[in-house]
Amino acid sequence: MNEMKIPEHIAIIMDGNGRWAKKLGLNRIFGHKNGIKAVRDTVEICGEIGVKYLTLYAFSMENWYRPPDEIAALMSLLVEAIVKETPELDKNNVQLRAIGNLSSFPENVAVKLNQAIEFTSKNAGLILTLALSYGSRWEITEAVRAITERAVAGEIKPEDINENVIEQYLTTYSMPDPELIIRTSGEQRLSNFLLWQGAYSELYFPTVLWPDFNKKDLIQAVEEYSKRERRFGKTGEQIREEKK
Ligand code: IPE
Ligand code: IPE
Ligand code: MG
Repeated sequence: MNEMKIPEHIAIIMDGNGRWAKKLGLNRIFGHKNGIKAVRDTVEICGEIGVKYLTLYAFSMENWYRPPDEIAALMSLLVEAIVKETPELDKNNVQLRAIGNLSSFPENVAVKLNQAIEFTSKNAGLILTLALSYGSRWEITEAVRAITERAVAGEIKPEDINENVIEQYLTTYSMPDPELIIRTSGEQRLSNFLLWQGAYSELYFPTVLWPDFNKKDLIQAVEEYSKRERRFGKTGEQIREEKK
């Protein structure tokens, strides 16, 4: 096997839970329940191969439009998973974070989530960020509002607004951009996920449904990523010359 290039930051759109359950003739919620093992496996393998940041899209802002019973089930699964998995995350030195409009979550979910974030905040291993009630357009809109408020207050001049300033106002401000974005289930779209941060991400769309995603699939994604040449606008010749 060629040596793998390990991305510093991998982001995953965990898709296909509903279809996985439907294939078995079961309720969509059963699919969500079975997605938790895939999360556990993914966190473990990312830690093992030395990924520094793993960001998981768990609930989009648009997912609030789902049927109320599915939303309720997702919320209680989230609380259950956080409570159950936190000791193991802590043991593995994982630091939990969350991005998204967390104020839209029911109080009990927000409390448990914040407890887990606080509990693991000193850990120096993998940084696991859950994107919850997250949407890129919301995030960018919030950034524009905050920057405008500072401009109106005379604290920042319009000519000083650049990409670095904007990045500081995004929910991901302390993280590098993801080199690799994976979306399972064969869907090939970003669904409002990391639109700014993913400007130059390599995209990978395996057909495996999220509950079936395992360590081998993650390795396969990293192997595929290793084969790609990232050019950032330059020519292939320039990139190969720089590598010499
Ligand atoms: C992803 O699986 C999980 C969430 C969006 C919460 P889906 O629930 O979107 O599964 P499909 O796309 O219907 O199969
Ligand atoms: C996107 O999945 C959000 C998550 C995986 C959490 P969806 O399955 O909701 O996306 P769309 O609406 O089909 O694009
Ligand atoms: Mg889906």
